[in-house]
Amino acid sequence: MREKIEQLKSAALRQIVAAADLAALEEARVRFAGKNSELTALLKTLGTLAAEERPKVGALVNEAKTALEAALTEKKSALQQTAQTQKIAAEKLDVTLPGKGLKRGHYHPLTQVMNEAKNIFIRLGFEIAEGPEIETEYYNFDGLNIPPHHPSRDMWSTLFVEGGQLLRTHTSPVQVRVMEKRKPPLAIIAPGRVYRRDYDATHSPVFQQLEGFLVNKNVTFGDLKGTLTEFLRQMFGKERNVRFRPSYFPFTEPSVEVDVEWEGKGWMEILGSGMIDPNVFKAVGYDPEKFSGFAFGMGIDRIAMLKYGIDNIHLMYENDLRFLEQF
Ligand code: PHE
Repeated sequence: MREKIEQLKSAALRQIVAAADLAALEEARVRFAGKNSELTALLKTLGTLAAEERPKVGALVNEAKTALEAALTEKKSALQQTAQTQKIAAEKLDVTLPGKGLKRGHYHPLTQVMNEAKNIFIRLGFEIAEGPEIETEYYNFDGLNIPPHHPSRDMWSTLFVEGGQLLRTHTSPVQVRVMEKRKPPLAIIAPGRVYRRDYDATHSPVFQQLEGFLVNKNVTFGDLKGTLTEFLRQMFGKERNVRFRPSYFPFTEPSVEVDVEWEGKGWMEILGSGMIDPNVFKAVGYDPEKFSGFAFGMGIDRIAMLKYGIDNIHLMYENDLRFLEQF
């Protein structure tokens, strides 16, 4: 019996010391000190021993148990320590590595150019007005001296929506809306999206315009030219070649268009303008003998193309980050 106890004890101690990890240690504990271990079984057989043997053997078993438990505890904390150390080593952080960083966003090139254009006119004393993108034929055409069968309606390949309304083909309807409600003097800009059935490198079915108009007593063509020249200088710099070219619009007379030099490609038209036609004044109840004014409508997409050397307008609407990140 004593021998058996000694054997179990030393076998157990060996296995405890040899345990490579916590799982192996737990295995040793179950095997040698658990409820179903041989040592526990031995305790149960104490009753079969002679009376004077019992206390001695009992003491031996208890001593073995205590020794095992001490060894288990000690080994357990040693293994935990090792595991902790390994974990820390594996998780080591190099705080000197460069961080991932947050990419900073920025405005879309169209928004940038639109803001720049708006700011130039705000500094010149213009205020901002807006109108709806879904318009009536009246504001888009009739109120602008374009009667139903006037051939110039063809100049704006119109997208109609149900119920007889249309997607505005230009921002000029805002002229009519503002003049109907307010009296001169007025200096207004109206930025916004417009729509046409058009598609090529410089035409997109949706694009951005900035309308502007000024009405007062004695406004002259010189005021128009001076205002636009100042705008062009601020937007493109003094060195950029621009030209004013006679044109035609039903709602202005006389009318001009402005072209800006397009590196290597000649000229690109960026705006239409002119002196507001007396018929437009009559439609909003202004006396054309008393007031005069000028109006212009510029293509923001094209200004952005010229400013940044972009040769296809559709890049503006494709949301390709490789393109957008360049601005
Ligand atoms: N609305 C015209 C266009 O879209 C531009 C324009 C505006 C011309 C104001 C004259 C005056 O083509």
